[in-house]
Amino acid sequence: MNKLSVDNLIGIKNLKKQDIDLIFKTADHFKEIINRPIKKVPSLRDITIANLFFENSTRTRLSFELAEKRLSADIVNFSAAQSSVKKGETLIDTANNILSMKVDIIVMRHPNEGAADFLSKNVDARIINAGDGAHEHPTQALLDSFSIREKLGTVKGKKIAIIGDILHSRVALSNIFALKLQGAEIKLCGPKTLIPKYITKLGVAYESSLEKVLEWCDVANVLRVQHERMDIKYFPSVREYTQLYGINKKILNAINKDIVIMHPGPINRGVELTSDVADSKQAIILNQVENGVAIRMAVIYLLAQQIKR
Ligand code: NCD
Repeated sequence: MNKLSVDNLIGIKNLKKQDIDLIFKTADHFKEIINRPIKKVPSLRDITIANLFFENSTRTRLSFELAEKRLSADIVNFSAAQSSVKKGETLIDTANNILSMKVDIIVMRHPNEGAADFLSKNVDARIINAGDGAHEHPTQALLDSFSIREKLGTVKGKKIAIIGDILHSRVALSNIFALKLQGAEIKLCGPKTLIPKYITKLGVAYESSLEKVLEWCDVANVLRVQHERMDIKYFPSVREYTQLYGINKKILNAINKDIVIMHPGPINRGVELTSDVADSKQAIILNQVENGVAIRMAVIYLLAQQIKR
């Protein structure tokens, strides 16, 4: 297969295993290119991309922007805080105004679940979801799996623990879909109040003990507590959360193997990970960031091939 089965990247839920294989193969090629002295290719010289960020972002926005620049696309950036959205403009009006300026691809981050899907059904451009509320964050899950494949050779058959605030995490849901497609085993761990009730229907197990899940896994993908999405208290205090679910060197030294530590960022140092763990050799957190650019180049490049001219 040399073509994606989708026209837009809304979620991993819509992808097939072959799509992931194709994205990884393409990203392997781009990773090699971005490590050359001349990091740029002319592939998308005739493509214009708008980055619409209705929610805060550092890594994802910079990563998409770099990926686009390295493919030689023309780009425009928009962030909600400085836009007419604050004056009451609808999402479709904002997008259509941007499209009138002849934009081919829209990369969008939005606080509402379903926003990327809604946009893809209402505007004539390829849409890439850069995170929609607590729903999906497909490029993050792709770069996470790509980083596991790079570190361990394959994702198939690996035991992956996803630890922390699963309830409010789009990274968790996209990872579950991506890892299942590739044949990994998954266990979730965190306070029960932060685990959605439907989750076992997705074919993943729950383990309440951090020590047990760390003993079991090859990789621990550690997630941030998403305070900004919480309207009520889900656990008594941050201190108690850290005591029960924070990963430190002492806990890691007590298990008999060297597991891989991942985190999508931003890290709350001292809450879900201590600094000595985040900065240790076991952690591949900065490799994830590096791979993010190659993965996003691959996704943009492959979706651009679908544009009818
Ligand atoms: C994540 C996000 O925004 O969903 N971060 C990211 O994209 N690198 C996770 C988070 O905010 O905790």
